[in-house]
Amino acid sequence: MSASSPPSAASVEIAPSILAADFRRLGEQVQDALAAGVRRLHVDVMDGHFVPNISMGPLVVEALRPLAEKARAVIEVHLMITEPDRYLPDFARAGARAMTVHAEACPHLHRTVEAIRGLAAQPGVALNPATPLVALEEILPQIDVALLMSVNPGFGGQTFIPATVDKVARLRALLRARGLERIAIEVDGGVGPENMAALVAAGMTIAVAGTSVFGAGASVGERIRVLRAACAAAPPRVRPRSAVRGSRR
Ligand code: DX5
Ligand code: ZN
Repeated sequence: MSASSPPSAASVEIAPSILAADFRRLGEQVQDALAAGVRRLHVDVMDGHFVPNISMGPLVVEALRPLAEKARAVIEVHLMITEPDRYLPDFARAGARAMTVHAEACPHLHRTVEAIRGLAAQPGVALNPATPLVALEEILPQIDVALLMSVNPGFGGQTFIPATVDKVARLRALLRARGLERIAIEVDGGVGPENMAALVAAGMTIAVAGTSVFGAGASVGERIRVLRAACAAAPPRVRPRSAVRGSRR
């Protein structure tokens, strides 16, 4: 599924976060994911300012580019950095075809999103767990991906924040009301077989999965199959709890 496809529980995309991969054999692990049918690779970029951790940059995107292109997969960069505008051209040159910035890090979000579009990449906007959905309202028509963090960004392997499920459902309702269901809803942090079905039922269309794809134990391919099976087990779409209670959002 591309970011512009209409949402459907059957077409939920799994985007492995390479932050959780074994960096000594990153290429091999990414190949395993691509061989299992993955078509979206999630690269977490951290600067030690916006988040308290430092991770990777355009060189890693450039290294993965030939693998991604051969499989016709999209590399998306999740920019957990202050002043992302300074680095957008570098990531585009390196091969990123989707770029997600944080609303909290962008005082001129519209300009930043236009810059991403101008670089022929899919623009995405991410919200931290405590940032309300209203921060997305004005920018929605300009973006392809809305990313809801389900952990506080900065580290892989954290515990999923359960309130995210209702936030996804409220965003799904908002997209429906605005006629913007082409926008992908991506969820990032602590996503695994145990919460996948609830997220799909709420309206998620892209699941970022780090530890649940690259963690110890089963093979990458097997773990991806388990995640897909959990998606398939999702019940029909659910309404947000707040809508049931009767509040607006
Ligand atoms: C957190 C990152 C996530 C993280 C996901 O700041 O944005 O992409 O790597 O990893 P897991 O799935 O292990 O929570
Ligand atoms: Zn991420």
